[in-house]
Formats: sequence, C-alpha cells, structure tokens
Amino acid sequence: MRLLLVSLLSAYAAAQTACPPFEFVYAPQNAGTGAQFESAASKVWSKGYGAAGYSLYTNLTALIPGMAGYPVHYPASFSGCTSEDPGIKDMQNHLIARAKQCPDIKFSLGGHSQGGFVTARTLPRLPKEVNKKIIAVTMFGSPRCIDKLGVAGRCKSYCYKNDEVTNENR
Ligand SMILES: *[C@@H]1O[C@H](CO)[C@@H](O)[C@H](O)[C@H]1NC(C)=O
Repeated sequence: MRLLLVSLLSAYAAAQTACPPFEFVYAPQNAGTGAQFESAASKVWSKGYGAAGYSLYTNLTALIPGMAGYPVHYPASFSGCTSEDPGIKDMQNHLIARAKQCPDIKFSLGGHSQGGFVTARTLPRLPKEVNKKIIAVTMFGSPRCIDKLGVAGRCKSYCYKNDEVTNENR
C-alpha cells in the first residue's frame, strides 16, 4: 500500500515537472482556490475546466498526444475584480513558470464568461517571450478579441448575439 502510494506520488510529481510540447491553460466560469479547487474539480466530469473548456480540452487531447492541461484556480463569483484578480495572478504565474521550465512549450489559452475576463486581462500582462509561445486563444461568452490583448490573428471569441457579458464591452 505504502509502496503504491509512493509510486503514485512520484508519477504525479513527474507528470507535473515533465515538459509537454503543448499546454491548454483555461479559466473556467466558476472555480475555487487551492486544495478546495482540486477536490471540487476531481468530483465533477468537467475536471475544473467547465463544460465548454472540457469539450475543447478533450478535442485537443485527441489531436495532440502528450499535451497537458491546467485549469486556472480562482474563486469565480459575481464580485468582479476581487475574484478575477486571483485568477489573473494564477494564470500569469503558471504561464511564466511553465515557459521558464519548458523552453519549447506552446500554449493554448482560453476562458469562459468571467474566465474570459481573466484571460483577457492576463494577456497584456504577459512578458513578450511568453506571448510568443501562445498559438491560440479561445473564449466563450467573453470579451472580444481586441488588438489590445496582443494576440491578433491568434484569438477567437465565441458568443451568442445578446450575451450580456460580451455586450458589456469592458
Ligand atoms: C469538440 O468536438 C465535437 C465533435 O466534433 C464538437 O461537436 C464540439 O463542438 C467540439 N468542442 C469545441 C469546444 O470545439
């Protein structure tokens, strides 16, 4: 039992530190923080990515073997910045650390609803060398792909016509 636990833990550590060729970093529409996020995410089928994010993640996984995924940890809620800010910090820290650890990695970023705001507000805060590693940004019910985000030609934002999040124009 103990041996099993040790080997599981070391496999987990290896998966965390290994460098995948490609990583999907996605901010869901609702989430949590820290250990609370991990335990909540493990109990739902969408594993912390949310419905749209998990659909995109599984589709990408089928196309790109060996890729990794990271759902942004943040306490999404209607309180706006107070919940978005920790998400921006988590997404930014994760991308900078991964880029440093894995010089050849490429990223696909994205988010849904408030997760889209987290993504859109994180993008301009990323160093140039991290931005260069972003292949695609995909958002659902989120801000539009304006030039200010710094990913022109690499960004798609999908929304329904009268989506109030998208129409807010923040
Ligand atoms: C994933 O693939 C399925 C089947 O082709 C498609 O219906 C779905 O829209 C895709 N999901 C995303 C988020 O593109």
